Amino acid sequence: MSANQGVGLFISFEGIDGAGKSTHIAGLAEALSSKGCKVTLTREPGGTGLAEKLRGLILNDAMDALTESLLVFAARRDHVETVIRPALAKGEVVLCDRFTDATFAYQGAGRGFDLQTLSTLETWVQSQAEQVLQPELTYWFDLSPSLAAERLASARVPDKFESQPVAFFEAVRSGYAARAQADPQRFARIEANQSREAVFAEVIAVAKERGYL
Ligand code: TYD
Repeated sequence: MSANQGVGLFISFEGIDGAGKSTHIAGLAEALSSKGCKVTLTREPGGTGLAEKLRGLILNDAMDALTESLLVFAARRDHVETVIRPALAKGEVVLCDRFTDATFAYQGAGRGFDLQTLSTLETWVQSQAEQVLQPELTYWFDLSPSLAAERLASARVPDKFESQPVAFFEAVRSGYAARAQADPQRFARIEANQSREAVFAEVIAVAKERGYL
């Protein structure tokens, strides 16, 4: 079901909070740019004016899981239509900090929301000409939730998700594992329990294997 319009390259980055993906996204963007690629660096929820406003609500306000899922997909719709598809159509590389796998992991596995409904929303929001937009590659930064919690404890003030107990992140992690198992070609699991340098070396190795660098 994975298909991209245009000639660009769409890559997403996933993992539980505290897995440490941010610096690697920036590093990969730099590596691709230095190879002459035009890179659009973006994130979810967010990436447009409207979607960033929705992000503020999603990350900070209490709501039921259906409301949360609808807001996440509303933000995604705006982002896909106004940023991601146009960039891909121009042949750009789109690096997106989280995409729909996060919804299956957080709202689905984490909050226990119905996966079939999420699949329906995914199809509605990401379809064009009967093709469902998906990343060509998804980096999954995998780290045990207890280690991630230790890393988060020394970071900034936690948002709604970051302040969830370790058991929530065990469920989110299993949600990512299920998505990876269902689409092994798309996913590259990165062992995040290593030094930053070693993790980045894996990130670069995957991009080279796939012929992107
Ligand atoms: P995150 O990507 O970790 O950004 P930051 O590095 O600024 O903290 O935060 C986004 C949060 O939103 C994260 O806790 C996961 C959550 N999220 C969902 O619950 N569902 C989704 O579909 C997406 C994209 C994110």
